[in-house]
Amino acid sequence: MPFSALPAPSVPLAAAPPSTPLGPFGDSALAWAGWTAAMAFAGLVALALLVAAPARRGEAGTHARVRTRLSAAAVVFGLLAGPAALAGLAHDAAGGPGAGYDYAAAWAGLFDGSAEGTLSGLQVALPVLGAFLLAPMALRRTLADRTGTALLWTGLTAGLVALGSARFPTQVRNGLGRTVFETGVWMLHLFGAAVWLGGLVGLVLLALPGAVAPAARGAFWAPAVRRFSVAAMACVAAITLSGLFLYWEHVDGPGQLVSTMYGRVLGVKILIFGSVLVLGAFNQFWLHPRIEALRADGEAGRRGGIALRRFPVVVAAEVALVLLVLFVAPFLHGSARNQAFQAEAARHATVVGAPLPKLPPKQATASTWAWGAAETAAVIGVMVIGHRCSGRLARRRVRLAAATAPAAAAS
Ligand code: HEM
Repeated sequence: MPFSALPAPSVPLAAAPPSTPLGPFGDSALAWAGWTAAMAFAGLVALALLVAAPARRGEAGTHARVRTRLSAAAVVFGLLAGPAALAGLAHDAAGGPGAGYDYAAAWAGLFDGSAEGTLSGLQVALPVLGAFLLAPMALRRTLADRTGTALLWTGLTAGLVALGSARFPTQVRNGLGRTVFETGVWMLHLFGAAVWLGGLVGLVLLALPGAVAPAARGAFWAPAVRRFSVAAMACVAAITLSGLFLYWEHVDGPGQLVSTMYGRVLGVKILIFGSVLVLGAFNQFWLHPRIEALRADGEAGRRGGIALRRFPVVVAAEVALVLLVLFVAPFLHGSARNQAFQAEAARHATVVGAPLPKLPPKQATASTWAWGAAETAAVIGVMVIGHRCSGRLARRRVRLAAATAPAAAAS
């Protein structure tokens, strides 16, 4: 609704735009701790399932050591995620920003029969339950493979349900279709981030001494990295597409990335995300093909060893940047389009202190869906081409290595 259409106010107040503070640092640090612990728990378990097959093919004992190390880390994050979620609820129960913690109210609200109570209960209880389920694998290397796999799947389910509960709706808003779609977008955003972050943390932990014996490196790392890179690409696609939808919902044009506090925070988030993708591309197109050649002897194998030593450093940098994205995310309060709208409304306000109007939620038109479909095809296309190219690079390196190995051995 253009303000020029409004009847000329007697004396426009030109009031200052409403303040859009970032909110207390402590509040976002608490939210960050909750997201990080819940995501790392689910992602570490997902990685344990993903790299199980390459670990089984490795030297005897590799599978048990890999599974034990990832389970132990998941247990730690699971035991942190429950209390972190409870602290977040206690903070909300005390009245939000800067208001302290009301643990009694938060605890009483868990599983109190209401939809909110059930979701809060799942958020707090499931990671802890998941941690207890995985504890036997963290403590005993001899646990039967089938039991271990069943516990891992149960732990993963517990972790993802707990994470999803943080953004699962308790009522239908803007129609059932929109509510279901938004919920799906949030699940893509959070699950994609969890599998990616937890997987990266797990790869760094596995690169530390004691999990994969030197003799087993070639047989384990090349297929493990390959498998994770497929999962990581799927996660990046999920985060990007869901992020674009959330962007569409909250931002009316790139100008608001500068003119509003919400937009500036989101802009910083997208920039950091972009730098993670650059590192990920270096991993995908430079390190992975060399790690693939690790199985070859001679020069190629030696270069593969160097790449494998660089790999955890690059992955650790990715972890740090994703944690930074996660730190910025909780500062996204309200929405950019409402902040811009209310700033304008305040300029034209005629009554002091009157509540400023809000914009109705955006409605998707045929062109919105067309754009969305094109973006989805483009993002998936880029991921598939990227995966194929790095696969081709890797196979070329392995062939080259195989061709030069006899000459290198003879010299
Ligand atoms: C590693 C990458 C990313 C991670 C880990 C991540 C994580 C998150 C989390 C945890 C939240 C919820 C924050 C909260 O309410 O406390 C969130 C919200 C949001 N994310 Fe992301 N995100 C990532 C990338 C992106 C990208 C690339 C975009 C945009 C293209 C994006 C757009 C958004 C938006 C707009 C919201 C806020 C939605 C709202 O206000 O309701 N995210 N993200």
